[in-house]
Amino acid sequence: MASTARTAPNLKFSHMGLSCKDVVPMEAFYTGVLGFTVTDRGFAEGMDLIFLSRDPNDHHQIVLASGRPDEMPANTRHPQFGPSINQISFLMGDLADIRDMHTRLQEGGASNIFPANHGIAWSIYCHDPEGNNLEFFMDTEWYFPQPFLIPLDLSKTDAELYELTHDIAQSQEGFVPYPEWRSRIAKKMTPFVAPTKPLAN
Ligand SMILES: [Fe+2]
Repeated sequence: MASTARTAPNLKFSHMGLSCKDVVPMEAFYTGVLGFTVTDRGFAEGMDLIFLSRDPNDHHQIVLASGRPDEMPANTRHPQFGPSINQISFLMGDLADIRDMHTRLQEGGASNIFPANHGIAWSIYCHDPEGNNLEFFMDTEWYFPQPFLIPLDLSKTDAELYELTHDIAQSQEGFVPYPEWRSRIAKKMTPFVAPTKPLAN
């Protein structure tokens, strides 16, 4: 049977690693500005390795590793996005967290800071110290087909942003409350089943 005709394998996305020109300022940014904890560090295969997490269930969510070439080509379409990694995105709790992160990014040396309203999400994009494009976002309560992007005006109050975005979302073709879209798309997905048995009896 073709693999595409079988049930999807049991997996979920877990973590990622970034090759770095200099892991020292990258560690300072990811711990100091984003609040990650260094869970382990070491040297292997010629690389400095720094394991970062914000969740005790994940030994590492991000690995910083040395070995990135000094020069990398730019994205050929848009300078905000990387030549290989388009975005690395962090879910935040609410608009107050997003506003707080906006300030922290400005104080913490991030560049290319760009608040964006996707209608289905409120976001801030920025570059980390090595130019990787990060996104800090929260979902709204509404879905409509993507992509959609207008600037997110953080001088507006939460209530103003809610009303403005709700109005935009409702005027789009394909608008549905987000929970409705989620139950629709869930039918196409095979959820990961976490193991419950001990490894050995
Ligand atoms: Fe995104």
